[in-house]
Amino acid sequence: MRNENPGFRTLRTLVALGCAALLAGAVQADDDKAIGKHAFEKACVACHSDPPVPRAMPREQLAKMPPEAIFAALLGGKMTLQAAALSEIEKRAVSIYLSEIPWGTVKDAKTVEQLTMCKNPAPLPADALAQPHWSGWGLDADNTHFQPAARAGLTPADLANLEFKWALGFPAGTSVSTQTAVVGGRIYIGGPGNGIYALDAKSGCAHWKTETAGEVRGAIQAFKRADGSLMLIAADRKAMVYGLDAETGKILWQDKGEDHPWAMNTGSAAFHDGTVYVPFASFEELAGGSPTYECCTFRGSVNAYELETGKRLWKTYLIPEPAKKTVKAGNGTQLWGPSGVAVWSQPTIDAKAGAIYLTTGDSYSAPAADTSDSIVALDLKTGAIRWHKQMTADDAFTAACVAHNADPIARKGCGPDIDFGSSAILRTLPNGKRVLLAGQKSGVMHAIDPDAQGAVLWQKRLSPGGVLGGIEWGYAADDSHVYVPISDVWESRSEPGAAGGIYALNIADGSTLWQTPAAKPDCLSIPGCNAGQPQAAVLIPGAIFSGSMDGHMRAYDPATGKVIWDVDTKREYPTVNGVKAKGGSIKGAGAVVVDGWVYFGSGYGLWGMPGNVYVAYGPKAK
Ligand code: HEC
Repeated sequence: MRNENPGFRTLRTLVALGCAALLAGAVQADDDKAIGKHAFEKACVACHSDPPVPRAMPREQLAKMPPEAIFAALLGGKMTLQAAALSEIEKRAVSIYLSEIPWGTVKDAKTVEQLTMCKNPAPLPADALAQPHWSGWGLDADNTHFQPAARAGLTPADLANLEFKWALGFPAGTSVSTQTAVVGGRIYIGGPGNGIYALDAKSGCAHWKTETAGEVRGAIQAFKRADGSLMLIAADRKAMVYGLDAETGKILWQDKGEDHPWAMNTGSAAFHDGTVYVPFASFEELAGGSPTYECCTFRGSVNAYELETGKRLWKTYLIPEPAKKTVKAGNGTQLWGPSGVAVWSQPTIDAKAGAIYLTTGDSYSAPAADTSDSIVALDLKTGAIRWHKQMTADDAFTAACVAHNADPIARKGCGPDIDFGSSAILRTLPNGKRVLLAGQKSGVMHAIDPDAQGAVLWQKRLSPGGVLGGIEWGYAADDSHVYVPISDVWESRSEPGAAGGIYALNIADGSTLWQTPAAKPDCLSIPGCNAGQPQAAVLIPGAIFSGSMDGHMRAYDPATGKVIWDVDTKREYPTVNGVKAKGGSIKGAGAVVVDGWVYFGSGYGLWGMPGNVYVAYGPKAK
């Protein structure tokens, strides 16, 4: 599927041509280990040194990845450009050299996975969306992450009665952060790996699995079509957008939402009045760390689609003009700009103002675009930019800013990399005034006025913040308070127990109702264990769910901040598809609470404890 993208194909051809020349001279080593070590020192040590540069994983984390997964990252994944100067033999050798797992231990997904198909499966009920369900990231147009009682079917008193029910294992997966949907008694699950699973929500037996071009990480969402059938909307890491039949998994329409070779989707789609709004981000920020890469040309964007047909209604780039040539780096590599301003999270819909609000990431080239690290309002109908409020100026960042061998020209004007990674929440105060809440990786929660072009109402610093948050994947709100978990995963790596914690802030003025520090991790001897809470918080009446990098999923009392439920997922789980699976650090998409059950992924291979499991907890059998 990757070859559908001409830009990517060109890139791969160039990589292949470069390799042939290098193969002859570069490696004189006489065994695989020496080849691997040499390749590491040549192409990787600039970032994955000890200690690594910000955001790159330390050696001990790479060692936990199956060599096949490292190889895949070098061959066509996130590290393609970093490995461009390596031959395929060197790529394989460095993967084997870095991993502590022998090559071949983790078999290809298709040979290992044994989904148990449901026997005599019932069709989806006609009124599936009228029954308890979960569909989307923010759960409502305001993006509150609040699941009402009737849909949650769970009270704080029920928590003690929850037990492990079933799990799905992802072959070769090391991070599980996908946002699932539960509709009509089925659960729809995306990545890691390419594909969407439809399983029975209570037993884990399978209805179908549909292959996708890339990993689906943002929310899978269900909508009713004009003919009464249910349609799923999903998007993947290759920036493909899909409309699927929820009954059969058949792809009804698909669209390559963004042509840039490094484009991807992580942000869930927003929906309003028959239109789906899909945001795009990219990996180009990493590619920029490669000295020969002509950085950077990607521009963050949002596409509007007609739900029924997939017809594209409009596309708005967050940087209106395409990138132009700027300066040349010291080695002669042409640089480009302006670029960046990815949209990583689900847009927020404001039907009253006829607006859609996006939170944006940093720029990839200096000078930074004035829409980076901003909240941007678009017209719901036309996509025209109405206003934007920038919270951090001059934040131009790529991996070149941190790589030890980066060119001084490529590094000029580097910023702190403090994107907005999570959705803004829209709320209405008792006095009728409206507030847009946006938490930033800087560790600051901003409250702005959506009816006054984003004028600041209040701002509150909750943590030191930095490249992995600060505030990372999201927060939840009711009518009076916003509940904000703190990551600080990266910032606290010299003192892993110092990260995390969760705040309850009054929406009207930002005052603190309570603050609960993170529990002291019970795993500090394990690499990647720390107290950070990057995972998106989810609220039901009487409980806030917040997972931690220490592998625990906890629920907190919204009135006091007291921990009222705690499950440790650092364990092996039996799986419904026969894949050996274990939990690890928890981040990404929040817990899914529906019909008395709690579902979530566990494992975070990048800066935490790896894991490859999606788990279901339900009420103990009576
Ligand atoms: C310019 C800096 C840089 C260089 C050079 C570099 N990396 Fe990375 N690497 C990163 C960063 C930053 C990330 C985290 C990516 C992210 O944000 O998701 C990463 C992530 C990875 C991952 C995880 C990929 C995934 O899919 O999650 C692997 C594996 C990896 N690097 C291996 C390597 C190897 C092997 C080399 C040498 C061939 C290398 N890297 C060179 C910066 C670098």
